[in-house]
Amino acid sequence: MKLLRQKVINEGIVLGSGVLKVDSFLNHQMDPFLMREVGREFTRRFAGDEITKVLTIESSGIAPGIMTALELEVPLIFARKQKSLTLTEDIYVEKVYSFTKKESNEITVSKKFIAPGERVLIVDDFLANGEAAFGLARIVEQAGASVAGIGIVIEKSFQPGGRLLQKAGYRVESLVRIASLEDGVVSFVDDEEE
Ligand code: G4P
Ligand code: NA
Ligand code: NA
Repeated sequence: MKLLRQKVINEGIVLGSGVLKVDSFLNHQMDPFLMREVGREFTRRFAGDEITKVLTIESSGIAPGIMTALELEVPLIFARKQKSLTLTEDIYVEKVYSFTKKESNEITVSKKFIAPGERVLIVDDFLANGEAAFGLARIVEQAGASVAGIGIVIEKSFQPGGRLLQKAGYRVESLVRIASLEDGVVSFVDDEEE
């Protein structure tokens, strides 16, 4: 996605340890026009897949998630990172390990929002090791629903998440794929296309 790639080039800041800071348009300040285009692009890519819900995880997945849900005309659910006060038998719980933060978190979704047979599109801002996406997919499967695909705004292809998700049989659509952040330079996968 050209517009997004340009935004990464113009505004992304490469931190040491392979982290791309994009807090001027995605992780802190958010660009609603860009998010609208993100929603439209996922909708184009998953057109005809009969998606009934979009599922993301708080907090940075919510902006791309809601714009995608708006375009697809379905609800958005965001998994919560804090335990809710609801009885645990009413929620799906999965453990998600963050390599970045070196801690394990529980993510939860209320059982009432995913019905068996639903077709769920998972959306997230970043894909690194894939832990969050796998956790969301396990929740969808716990519910007896199916994962229509996984839409990622920025994939860091030098980390294994994308490959592992595809190996597990999921369709992954990433709007930009970063091959490397070495020496403070962002290089993209497939630099010649788009
Ligand atoms: P994984 O789910 O793919 O395994 O990713 P990981 O544990 O490494 O990521 C933990 C958090 O860091 C996630 O956000 C993820 O979106 C974010 N993240 C990973 N790599 C980058 C990066 O290069 N740049 C930025 N800006 N974020 C990155 P989170 O903790 O869920 O936070 P949030 O959604 O509340 O922002
Ligand atoms: Na995220
Ligand atoms: Na994040």
